[in-house]
Amino acid sequence: MVQAKLTERYKQIQKKLKKHKQQHVLRFWDELDEAKQEKLLEQLESLDFAELEALLGTHVLAKPDKFVPKDIRPAPFFSLRPKPEQKELYRKARQIGEKAIRNGEVAALTVAGGQGTRLGFDGPKGAFCISPVKNKPLFQIFAEAILANQRRFQAKIGWYIMTSPNNDLQIRKFFEQNNYFGLGPESVEFFKQGSMPAFDFEGKLLLADKDSLATSPNGHGGTLRALKQNNCLEKMKNDGVKYLSYFQVDNPLVSVLDPMFIGLHIREDSEISSRTLPKVDDLERVGNFCLSDGKIVVIEYSDLPENLAQAHNPDGSRKFNAASIAVHIINVDFAERLTGSKTGLPYHRAEKKVPYLNDEGLHIEPSEPNAVKLEMFIFDALTLATKSIIFETDRAEQFSPVKNASGPDSALTCRRDMIRRAARWLRLAGIEVPRNPQGEPACTLEISPLYALDAEEFVAKKPKLEPIKMGDKVYLE
Ligand code: UTP
Repeated sequence: MVQAKLTERYKQIQKKLKKHKQQHVLRFWDELDEAKQEKLLEQLESLDFAELEALLGTHVLAKPDKFVPKDIRPAPFFSLRPKPEQKELYRKARQIGEKAIRNGEVAALTVAGGQGTRLGFDGPKGAFCISPVKNKPLFQIFAEAILANQRRFQAKIGWYIMTSPNNDLQIRKFFEQNNYFGLGPESVEFFKQGSMPAFDFEGKLLLADKDSLATSPNGHGGTLRALKQNNCLEKMKNDGVKYLSYFQVDNPLVSVLDPMFIGLHIREDSEISSRTLPKVDDLERVGNFCLSDGKIVVIEYSDLPENLAQAHNPDGSRKFNAASIAVHIINVDFAERLTGSKTGLPYHRAEKKVPYLNDEGLHIEPSEPNAVKLEMFIFDALTLATKSIIFETDRAEQFSPVKNASGPDSALTCRRDMIRRAARWLRLAGIEVPRNPQGEPACTLEISPLYALDAEEFVAKKPKLEPIKMGDKVYLE
């Protein structure tokens, strides 16, 4: 009976595959046991062949035109410090943000479904240990920040974490083993993003094994769809959550809930808001916030024409200076609107090295890009919003991602930046921090979010410490 059903499903899928000229993925069917046949069938049945066929034409067999609008101008943004005439607006925005958090209208949202290939860590990136003294994993730092916000605002603050089919189980286990870092399982909601199969350059689906296709997560833009498909938007609505504070898993300096940012977003009727930083050089490898046809857009560094990237104002300042750091506030209603219509986010093509099983059943590790991966990017949602604003932040306070195994944006630079920030807060509170000959803190410092969420809170605590000596390890919780 079971076998008969399997055979029937096999026939159905075989027909479909034939229609789309992908029947080669069943090449090893007869070598598979029943469980493996079932696994392959399930994966194939979950594919949206109509969508894939369309993408094959536009993104795999052809390279999609990189759409760079003609009329790009620098995007306006709210500066970190208000101009005199904005002081009142900023004061009110902060109050509005605080009230929204207190009322339980804001949830934190971390995207943690990426593959972290550049870091090369054996495990989900959120489990990577980063803090300078206690060696806490990234997830723990965010958990402590959420807990600290729950205490500060006496509020219910949920944390939504996007996982991928590749790391979902590992992430859930990691939280269980660590007792949810004190948050309680009821505060944490995991949801799995979708994946996309990889194609070779001839448009053929690649096998990872005899019983599975080579797939990868569908990009951080898959967040919206995944929220919808996992009934998270519905849950948020039931819980009275209206705003999502979105950040990536690799930046432990991020402010997980910033009342001023949230308040400006609400006050300005924005549907999706973003944080920006001044670029460190003209060609920094970051997305650029630009204005085109009255809409805010992010143009990737590789797409921004060089003459624009290098353009300067008469006073010497850089014209296109607003970098994106993938920190957003997103309205739950906006997510609902985008996922309810056919106008979803577009896919982007990336050529990557994808290990695969060849026709002879041998595993191949390519040394050159051999495949097309398709991903959606969250910042493409900006152009679909009726209103979108940008708020500046301070790199030294809020941004130092762990992307690479060494060099820039690595664990080394991130720990250095965590120590520098702690030293700055200590000095602001009147505590001396010894320096080495290069002017860097000559000690290892760590301030838990449970002690203070920002410099202001830290200074207000008037910390009393023994004098800090060279080589000391100082941890505050
Ligand atoms: P990155 O673009 O840095 O990609 O993701 P990555 O997969 O983490 O790392 P590399 O490029 O393979 O080295 C930025 C953020 O978006 C999340 C990541 O987990 C990270 O927080 N992300 C990325 C997803 O959640 N899903 C994806 O499909 C891609």
